[in-house]
Amino acid sequence: MKSIIVVGAQWGDEGKGKIVDIYSEFADTIVRPTGGNNAGHTLVVKGEKFVFHLIPSGILHAGKKCVVSNGVVVDPKVLLMEIGRLKERGYLKDDGQLKVGLLANIIFPYHISLDKAREEKLGNRKIGTTARGIGPCYEDKIARVGIRACDLVRPKALEEALRANLDMKNFLLEKYYGAEGVPFQATYDEYLAYGERLKPYLIDTSLFINEEIQRGAKILFEGAQGTLLDIDHGTYPFVTSSNTTAGGACTGSGVSPTKIRGVIGVSKAYATRVGGGPFPTELLDEEGQAIRDRGNEYGSTTGRPRRCGWFDAPVVRYAHRLNGLAGVALTKLDVLSGLARLKVCVAYEIDGVRREEVPLSLAEFEAARPVYEQVEGWKEDVSSAREFGDLPKAAQRYVRMLEEVTGVEISVVSVGADRNQTIIRKNPFRA
Ligand code: IMP
Repeated sequence: MKSIIVVGAQWGDEGKGKIVDIYSEFADTIVRPTGGNNAGHTLVVKGEKFVFHLIPSGILHAGKKCVVSNGVVVDPKVLLMEIGRLKERGYLKDDGQLKVGLLANIIFPYHISLDKAREEKLGNRKIGTTARGIGPCYEDKIARVGIRACDLVRPKALEEALRANLDMKNFLLEKYYGAEGVPFQATYDEYLAYGERLKPYLIDTSLFINEEIQRGAKILFEGAQGTLLDIDHGTYPFVTSSNTTAGGACTGSGVSPTKIRGVIGVSKAYATRVGGGPFPTELLDEEGQAIRDRGNEYGSTTGRPRRCGWFDAPVVRYAHRLNGLAGVALTKLDVLSGLARLKVCVAYEIDGVRREEVPLSLAEFEAARPVYEQVEGWKEDVSSAREFGDLPKAAQRYVRMLEEVTGVEISVVSVGADRNQTIIRKNPFRA
């Protein structure tokens, strides 16, 4: 068994794109199992910047197959734009390199309008979604009224499903939210045309991935968002609408858990979150702003400033429990250079009681005060370190401390945005 799942161990934006890009070199096929274009992976290869929302970043490796599987909610406009941009830059020369699940649910303009209208109505209780229609599209899927990729290439099926959906969605948009409705004909024509253009990529992706596994291929599953945004286990309702944890990679791609060799969690050397919801180690002072500036902590999908804070060990321990992490890829260690001392949250205090675990109730999570341990910082620039021993002693101590307080080995340390600014201590495909 050679398949590895990569998941976010915090609140998303951990730098999974870069880690997946590095592991892609050792994999044959890279699969995006869940989420949608709420995700944004930025990576820099030889100084060139790429941003992906739907297509796995592995597409930059010629000859590797990339799959957008059934568990993903696909905005066809965004997918086609990504395909177009890749081709313009000389990638994706062979269309066979990309496969899209016939059963993936499709995002329509009414999903986006509903996402926005609902957030507006929630006012200061809003979730802070990415306004990409993700939640409403997953709702339709669960309500069994979703329109899937396979319907885009069946004009009659599309017509019936779209009419039925618009009937209800326009009622909601116009009558309940006082927003603009979505017209049938223009939407139908637009989406039928998308279906035509996406046709070469549409296949039974579960069959494809399982055949790949059968022939001995190495599969890399590229999780989206982070553990604390999981619909079942995250800080509900401040979560996304899919299972971002390792199990979601299996259901989203139609691959048995028995075919998975291991799970790697990605975590920043500090913590960030976008949107609302509890964040015990959040720094609302200049130190938080310094991390935001140094780490360029602005969303790659929405451009929103990310909330920044110290490393939260209970969160990563929780991610370890839910995902069974074989290792953590620690990203953005370079951002912490120059800070005189660093703080690491090792537990919480809630109502005067020390708690080692992430609390399940939102009220408790919101009331949680971090219990910090302080460690010495380092002044040196670490971005040229390629071996663990190249790091300043204080940085090495920081990494070892994180291993201790999370109980997970740190198998990769990233010290810059570029592919080569990475210390690989253990490779899960070789271990
Ligand atoms: P949605 O996924 O757009 O519905 O947003 C729900 C919550 O998840 C919001 O707090 C978003 O900011 C957050 N979220 C969704 N996708 C990402 C991501 O890729 N990185 C970080 N946060 C995300």
